[in-house]
Amino acid sequence: MNRSLPKVIRTLVLAAGLTLSLAGASSFAQKAPMAPLPSPSGVDVPPPLSVPKNLEAISKGTQAQSQPANPSIFTSAGSDPYNFVSIPDKEASVLIQRAGEQWRVIRNGVITVYGGWLLAIAFFGIAGMFAIKGPIKLHEPMSGNLIKRFSFFERLTHWVMAYSFIGLALTGLLILYGKYFALPMMGGVAYGSFLDIMKNIHNFSGPLFTLSIVIFFLLLAKKNLPGEGDLNWLMTFGGLLSGKHPPAGFFNFGEKIWFWFGMTFLGLVISGSGFVLDMIVPFMQIEYTRGTMQIANIIHSSASILMTTMAMGHIYIGSIGMQGSLDGMRTGSVDATWAKEHHKLWYDKVNK
Ligand code: HEM
Repeated sequence: MNRSLPKVIRTLVLAAGLTLSLAGASSFAQKAPMAPLPSPSGVDVPPPLSVPKNLEAISKGTQAQSQPANPSIFTSAGSDPYNFVSIPDKEASVLIQRAGEQWRVIRNGVITVYGGWLLAIAFFGIAGMFAIKGPIKLHEPMSGNLIKRFSFFERLTHWVMAYSFIGLALTGLLILYGKYFALPMMGGVAYGSFLDIMKNIHNFSGPLFTLSIVIFFLLLAKKNLPGEGDLNWLMTFGGLLSGKHPPAGFFNFGEKIWFWFGMTFLGLVISGSGFVLDMIVPFMQIEYTRGTMQIANIIHSSASILMTTMAMGHIYIGSIGMQGSLDGMRTGSVDATWAKEHHKLWYDKVNK
């Protein structure tokens, strides 16, 4: 018994020494450059030019930004797009897809840059207008007489559409622009998980947005048909130059453009391309190949940026930009003074 104690101590010291030397060796191995392994074919190929010098940059997420163009391996002459596979998934034969490079340039260049400018001009233009001119005020005081404008169901649908759109726009902008500001702040690992959550919110709010567009369209299409006052509104730019509101019906021509082009056309283009990206297109046999996804992505992001730009104008006029305009969508009724000043033809009809 007495003799076995030093034996135990000796074994422990030996084990500790072994662990320490293993830890030391492995940390040295991480730092030491590794000699390239011989190629299995016997022909040694130099590593592609794109291999980052600083591997740590990948985990920090800075690699993507410091890499101005795709690695040469993806654009080299030998990168044949199609090969042969005998399995049903023909996409499996595409080892390197050259169109991916064009998509990358359009997405990260044209759309990101010009889209960014468009959004910034719209945002600062509206902010500047608000700062200089302030909200459009009523010329007469509110009368206190209320006129019914929207039903409960119309308002509910509008707000589901509005909030799902805002959620989609914010998460979508993070997907497009997040890597330029959130990634450097958060680091690669945290940003990856964060963006994954944003993408899931985006993917699940999409169908809700589409459904609300379809319902809102059915509810209000008739009131948005061309009518009296539209031409006059168009010729006078909605009274922007004269400062006088041209008489309008239930909706003015500007609202009708927003309804038909903004909400219906752009909304459905965004929804359709979004369904392709989500791979949930019903009743149609879509082949979700890389090419299809790239085209859907370009259509989706361009239309979304355009709609977000238009939505900024709508949200501004529908809230802080015009006195009394929010009441209709908030409570269902508007003041008679507001109706008389902004929708004179409708007001006259209601009061006949
Ligand atoms: C917080 C954001 C929003 C606010 C404050 C807002 C406000 C309003 C208001 C006050 C109206 C009624 C205008 C009137 O009485 O003539 C309205 C109508 C409407 N809104 Fe919004 N809205 C918002 C977001 C959105 C979004 C994101 C969309 C589209 C995706 C949208 C689409 C519409 C449409 C289509 C109409 C009816 C216009 C027409 O049919 O001609 N709104 N909104």
